[in-house]
Amino acid sequence: MAKIVVTGGAGFIGSNFVHHLVEHTDSHVVVLDKFTYAANEASLMGMSGGRVTVVRGDICDANVVNEIVSHADAVVHFAAESHNDNSLEDPSPFVRTNLVGTYTLLEAVRRYGVRFHHVSTDEVYGDLPLGTPEKFTEYTPYNPSSPYSSTKAGSDMLVRAWVRSFGVSATLSNCSNNYGPFQHVEKFIPRQITNLIDGVKPKLYGAGHNVRDWIHAEDHSSAVLTILEQGTTGQTYLIGADGEQDNLSVLTTLLEIFGRPTDWFDHVTDRPGHDLRYAIDSTRLRQELGWEPTHGDFAEGLAATVDWYRTHEDWWRPQKDATEARYRVQETKLGEGRR
Ligand code: NAD
Ligand code: TYD
Repeated sequence: MAKIVVTGGAGFIGSNFVHHLVEHTDSHVVVLDKFTYAANEASLMGMSGGRVTVVRGDICDANVVNEIVSHADAVVHFAAESHNDNSLEDPSPFVRTNLVGTYTLLEAVRRYGVRFHHVSTDEVYGDLPLGTPEKFTEYTPYNPSSPYSSTKAGSDMLVRAWVRSFGVSATLSNCSNNYGPFQHVEKFIPRQITNLIDGVKPKLYGAGHNVRDWIHAEDHSSAVLTILEQGTTGQTYLIGADGEQDNLSVLTTLLEIFGRPTDWFDHVTDRPGHDLRYAIDSTRLRQELGWEPTHGDFAEGLAATVDWYRTHEDWWRPQKDATEARYRVQETKLGEGRR
């Protein structure tokens, strides 16, 4: 594919994917990103100008989208409002970007006959009980819990409808929780790593028994490229690397890396509607397309991620204070809500 548009390419997973494309393909990459609070120019440092072009624009803006899509061979769609806690605070940008933005892109790829890959989350399936072997498959019914996951679920449905009704050539993927370099400090792992670097106690929601199925962002990127190149139109692929961990275990590993006692953290008010457990069965992707993750050892990947944040303070420092200020406001509101 000569020209690939990556929406949200200045965000966490999008920027990892741009690095992956530059390393593993000869394609020209056009990043279309609105540069919200979640984007970071430094994630694409040194890339712009060569095979990467960066366009500042909104996926809800049909003029910008049509112009870019009309020259593309494929669109890989990462752009989204992505944080559950923010969606509980103000759902409106989630509805706009995740639904209207996806619709705008679908209309453009339909008009210009461009291949589309839609990046989504396993959170569209709701949650699983703790302590069971049950996992999400491509056939699990949708049952989203939050404004974030429900708008992602809606965007998946739009893609499926545009495939069936208009013959758009699209694939979909639903991936589990990502970790790795370039993740915004609002998310669980980077928030706690950067707190520990600053000598501040990590913050755990509730008892920390909630389970997430962690995958390294590089493995997510290789899976998306595999699906883009070999996936069947209309098909959904679940992406996961068998990385289930409860939050308390992740935190304990981080505390050990930083040489802190394992009880050196604050329990904070739990997230309303907090999903208990996610777990992915990625058999289809592995058997049909031959994909395998390469970051199998979570503890090793986590230690490398800690090193990355330790050596890239310039990248995350500008966002840290504002993020923690937002969390303080949220914590106060949640506390008031309980009274
Ligand atoms: P992120 O919040 O780090 O990045 C989102 C990017 O989208 C940012 O660069 C932002 O500027 C851009 N964006 C937001 N609104 C836009 C708009 N209207 N127009 C153009 N650009 C806009 O998100 P992420 O964690 O990298 O997630 C990327 C995608 O992967 C999302 O679709 C998310 O649902 C999905 N996903 C994320 C995870 C995870 O663990 N983070 C797991 C599975 C799936
Ligand atoms: P998060 O990174 O927000 O991802 P998601 O909501 O998509 O799973 O959170 C991961 C888990 O960590 C989730 O169970 C909520 C929990 N969490 C904390 O315990 N403390 C925190 O400060 C944050 C941000 C999340």
